[in-house]
Amino acid sequence: MSLEKTKELANGSIIPRLGLGVWQVKDGAEAVDSVKWALEAGYRLIDTAAAYKNEVSVGEGIRTSGVPRNEIFVTTKLWNADQGYESTLKAFDESLKKLELDYIDLYLIHWPVEGKYKDSWRAMEEIYQSGRAKAIGVSNFHEHHIEDLLKDATVVPMVDQIEIHPTLTQEPLRKFLADHNIAAEAWSPLGQGKILEDPTLVEIGKKYDKTAAQVIIRWHLQSDIIVIPKSVHQDRIKQNFDVYDFSLTKDDMQRIDQLNTNERLGPDPDNFDF
Ligand code: A2P
Repeated sequence: MSLEKTKELANGSIIPRLGLGVWQVKDGAEAVDSVKWALEAGYRLIDTAAAYKNEVSVGEGIRTSGVPRNEIFVTTKLWNADQGYESTLKAFDESLKKLELDYIDLYLIHWPVEGKYKDSWRAMEEIYQSGRAKAIGVSNFHEHHIEDLLKDATVVPMVDQIEIHPTLTQEPLRKFLADHNIAAEAWSPLGQGKILEDPTLVEIGKKYDKTAAQVIIRWHLQSDIIVIPKSVHQDRIKQNFDVYDFSLTKDDMQRIDQLNTNERLGPDPDNFDF
């Protein structure tokens, strides 16, 4: 089964299906190097956030990689404390400044802060119309948050970035997103590295001479999920991109789907306090 390396979002933006996530990557050499290694290995999607506090180094990694800006898809996110109309406009400018970029490919509302996300979205729509964000979306939105947002929105979010991995497959939400032409993107796609010893994943990997991490990434891709594994090690960054020379069978896919336990590693978007 050959896979498309990119996906067209509802507005026509083209997003790479596999990227580097940099949550918990330290600002400074760690972030600069991880981004450079990823771009060297062929990645073209880098996913950061204001809250990760590494936008400065992510920008530096991009600039020093030698890869032209227009070949790289950069995502960043609006932090909760900055939600609200005016503060969103200001936070977006700050992210641009830190990244030293003049546009962002995808700007996301990081969490559905009650009473605020609609005002934030109005600002996001304006940023999108101005061309400074080529696409906009949300993160950690449940179905009911999106339904509520859509009551007043003029632009439908192009992406919802949510926690997805083989032990939290989120099938009902993914179906809702697909029905609304909203792309599903996975954070903590490897279960934060905690499921890499899972016997089923290891056993499936052995058949193809692949690691459990590569099996999981391939499962995301074959499930039409945009996937952004994090690593700060060059060998793992390369390994995580080396997933285009094998294909999981329908039976493998089903076995991985069955690892679902609906257990979150991160907070439930209906119950977070930050
Ligand atoms: P490290 O950054 O030290 O390489 P997720 O993307 O689900 O959040 O998972 C990230 C975690 O998994 C990190 O702890 C990362 O560690 C680890 N990791 C990423 N890729 C691999 C890999 N190919 N093999 C083993 N561990 C990995």
